[in-house]
Order: sequence, then C-alpha cells, then structure tokens
Amino acid sequence: MTGPADISQRKADHLEVAASGRADFQRTTTLLDDVFLVHQALPERAVDDIDLEVEVFGKKLKAPLVIAGMTGGTAEAAALNRDLARAAERFGIAFGVGSQRAMAEHPELAATFNVRDAAPSVTLIGNLGAVQARALGVDAVARLCAQIGADALAIHLNPAMELIQPGGDRDFRHIVDTLGELAQRLEVPVIAKETGCGLSAEAAQAIFAAGIRTVDVSGAGGTSWVAVEAERAAGTAAGRLGRELWDWGIPTAVSCALCAREGLEVIATGGVRSGLDIARALALGARAGGMAAPMLRAHRAGGFDAVCAAIEEVLASIRAVVFLTGCGRAAELAAAKKHIGAGLRGWLADLG
Ligand code: FNR
Repeated sequence: MTGPADISQRKADHLEVAASGRADFQRTTTLLDDVFLVHQALPERAVDDIDLEVEVFGKKLKAPLVIAGMTGGTAEAAALNRDLARAAERFGIAFGVGSQRAMAEHPELAATFNVRDAAPSVTLIGNLGAVQARALGVDAVARLCAQIGADALAIHLNPAMELIQPGGDRDFRHIVDTLGELAQRLEVPVIAKETGCGLSAEAAQAIFAAGIRTVDVSGAGGTSWVAVEAERAAGTAAGRLGRELWDWGIPTAVSCALCAREGLEVIATGGVRSGLDIARALALGARAGGMAAPMLRAHRAGGFDAVCAAIEEVLASIRAVVFLTGCGRAAELAAAKKHIGAGLRGWLADLG
C-alpha cells in the first residue's frame, strides 16, 4: 500500500507533467484530422435550433462532452474536482473523478473525490484501475461508487503505464473476469477505459463479451501516460523504456471506429482538442467526446471561469459543425457524409 505522502507527490507530479504538455505524444497523432466532414451550403435551418443532446450509458447529456477523470487524493485535486464538476453541471455534461484507489486505501481522502454537494445533479463517473478492482472485489468497488454518488464507473486499463511506473502492477491476468463480474453485479453501468493507448477491436470484443456496453477509448494523440511516467522515472531503466514507448498506442480515431463497429457505445478521449475533433469522433460512431488535459490547463490558467469559457467554446464549435454538415442534431453526425483520409483509411483497412 502507498502512504498518503507518496500519493500526494505522485498526484502533484501527474498534474504538473500533464498540464505542462511535456508528456504529449510526439509522433503519433489522433488521426481525427483524417475525417473530412462535408460542407452543406444549404443547411435550411437556424443555428439556434441545433440540438446537441446525446445519451450515454443511459444518461442524457445536454451536449456530447465528458470531462475525463484525472485526479483526487490531495487538496489541489479536491479543488480541481469540485470546479470541474460545477462547470460540468452548469452545462449539463458529464464529469469523471480520477482513480479512487487513494480513497480505497486511505478512507480519510474520500472527501477529495466527493463533488456531490457542489454539483448535486452532474452526471458523475467514478474511476478505478482494473487491477485494483480485481483485488478489492465487487462489494468494495460498489461501496466506492456509492460513497461519491457515481452514476457510472470507469474501470481503467493501463498496462503500458504500469510497466513504466516504479512499483507499477505487472500482473494483468483475469481482468476480463473482473470486468464481467462488475458488469453483472454493480448497480451502475461500467465503462471500460484506456488511459492514452487506445482500445483495439480484440479488446473491444472481450469487453463486449464481458457484458460492458460503454468504452472510453482514450486513444493515442493527446496525453501519453507512458510519457508522464517516463518523465517521472527519468534516468532509470523504466524511464528509458518509457522514452522508447513514448508514442505507443492506437490513434484515437482508429480506436473510435473499431469500438463502434463492435457495437459499443463510445466516448472518445485522447487528444480531443476542439469541438471539430468531437464532431469528427461522432462521425466515426462515438456518442460523445471527452477531454482531460485541456480542462486541467484551462483550470490552471483561470480557475472555474476559464473552464466554463473553454466548455462554451467547444460547444459553440460542435454546434457550428453540426449546422454546416446539414444536421439538426449532434447525434445525426454518425450518418453525415464524410471523406476518410489515407492514414486513417489504411489503419482501418489493416485492422478491419
Ligand atoms: C488522467 N487520466 C486518467 N484516467 C483514468 O482513467 N484515471 C485517472 O486517474 C487518470 N488520471 C489522469 C490525470 C491527469 C492529470 C490527466 C491529464 C489524465 C487519463 C484521462 O482520463 C484521458 O483518458 C487521457 O488523458 C487522454 O485525454 P487528453 O488528456 O489527451 O484529453
């Protein structure tokens, strides 16, 4: 078990390194730029009539945006979680806390994940690593969800990151069984979530077979968690492995299309940086897009107000693209005319 002081240092490092941009992918991109939506010069509707509402894991969101889980366990994390949750509530979008491992190991840290008093009606996603879920068992995991009033639980899969993290988990056996048990026995829906390396068709099939219907692909192209840990382990063998695998992962656009093809409901995170990116992900079959690092950066730049301004800008650009593609609703983007560029087309042909 890790002590509270170690957790504090690790969480502070994560926020600092991810916010700085030092851990962004360097060569691998999301490939969302390879989705070209087709302009419609005769939209024949008013922009104000565009409907952004979508449904994900049985919950209605006023717009297809999720603030992806990042943190908890420290005073800084608590303040960030509360501000992001309040902003998400204001706009009717979803918000996720970071890994609840800290509160599982140190119950006194639970308050740093608790946002319900600040955001009573926000669509709230809990978060736990698959390896920790396997060790804790379903009843303890259910208690973690209940303690924060989560509407869904993201179980993160992070084998690449764990390989670089000092003392990281190296044993990923029986995770599919754990996912199946959680899907069957938890009262809230389970979301299988990567952490920056994306989900393949094979992973998607196993997740679907385990009874899970929603994934957060967290693909390559934005924050690289291998890179975050490589930065923290600089000068060691793990750090060198992290440098080598810095750009490891499946581009977000590829993972999005593969998971949608398998019949999963997709949340697209990993390098999603604009409303246009979200619209492109929706055109590939995602239900919603999500952002982590951009929301952290907005918060560092100007707190709650800057986060609200960033969200507003993203929603305005989704609205613009829905309008310009001749759609009336964000959900219609799935069927919008599009051209797929050579890079993305090649990946999908090879993996299809
Ligand atoms: C994360 N991410 C993450 N994911 C998760 O499932 N549990 C976690 O505890 C964390 N912690 C975390 C901390 C910080 C500071 C960041 C930036 C990210 C991963 C996150 O949810 C997301 O999937 C990836 O960061 C990709 O999205 P971006 O950052 O490229 O928008």
